[in-house]
Amino acid sequence: MKRLSFIVTSLLFVMLFATSVFAQTQVGIVLPTKDEPRWIQDQTRFLEALKTAGISAEVLFSQGDSAKEKANVETLITKGIKVLIICPQDGSAAAAAADAAKKAGVKVISYDRLIRDTASVDYYVTFDSVQVGAAWGDYLVKQAKGKGNNLYIYAGAASDNNAFLFFEGAWSVLQPKIADGTFVVRNSDKAVALSKKAKLTRDEQASIIGQVTTNWNFSDAKNKAEANLTTATAEMKGTVYIAAPNDGTARSIADTFAVDKAVKKYYITGQDAEIPSIQYIIDGKQSMTVLKDVRTLVKDAITAAQAFLKSTVPAKTTTYNNGKVEVPAKPTAIVTVTKDNVKAAIVDSGYYPASNFTGLK
Ligand code: BGC
Repeated sequence: MKRLSFIVTSLLFVMLFATSVFAQTQVGIVLPTKDEPRWIQDQTRFLEALKTAGISAEVLFSQGDSAKEKANVETLITKGIKVLIICPQDGSAAAAAADAAKKAGVKVISYDRLIRDTASVDYYVTFDSVQVGAAWGDYLVKQAKGKGNNLYIYAGAASDNNAFLFFEGAWSVLQPKIADGTFVVRNSDKAVALSKKAKLTRDEQASIIGQVTTNWNFSDAKNKAEANLTTATAEMKGTVYIAAPNDGTARSIADTFAVDKAVKKYYITGQDAEIPSIQYIIDGKQSMTVLKDVRTLVKDAITAAQAFLKSTVPAKTTTYNNGKVEVPAKPTAIVTVTKDNVKAAIVDSGYYPASNFTGLK
């Protein structure tokens, strides 16, 4: 009897041990919101790639709330994660979550957006965000003829470091064309006042972004565009050139400009290659988007996580200063998508099946 109870106890112990080892979540992923197609796409691509890689992982969303983000990170730490992949809701506020992970011995990979003002970030996988903004500038400059063209600039959320990088890229191309009179900025007197300055300080960028921010929010974007159109005179309308910061806000802004009778033609940028925006491009309602191939970003994040799980260091191609340290990073190139290359870039490349779209030639 004693012997039997010993065997049963030992078996139970082994089973418990095995469960705790194998049920452990190796990698925790925290994404900013479920309310934008961009981040749902990242989740989908992550789940596919993690399955292939044989890594146990859990994805949690912060729903635009830094407190929820921190709670998500704490939950994942208690589940025993070894690596945290996190796209911060607010770059500076997320420093506390990164610090908590670091303290628990978890490696921190900043995903797409950089966590600022902490030494607790081990690695950064991202797209070349300065190039994204430059692609908007290049596109708009190419469409403009003569002088005095109406330019409207919109930005992302000031709490997102990327909003500054996108702005920096756009400014690098647009500023000389504002300074030489090709464009006239119609919705930011701060941008007008700084238009002779090629390189802006972060505070100067922040002053313009503060005036033209969409907060990455569709209704804020619509409200801002409506307010701008209300104060604009007829000569500030006609043909307009709009630097919109991503696809969701671009659709809101485009719809708002489209219903203003004094706007005869608009050119508008975007980014993310969201399915509804690809349809807008096919339909001629959005002029361009920037394809940021999420499959590559996910692959890079998983490769880095695997390196950390093996206690090695992932390869870097550059570093990004987060205000406190130089974070090793691997940026990925971007692709401009317009009506001319939409089929090749989006469908023929296998990014999305043609069945998502109508009228694609
Ligand atoms: C991302 C964009 C996204 C935006 C709003 C940025 O940090 O890089 O792809 O559209 O946030 O979520």
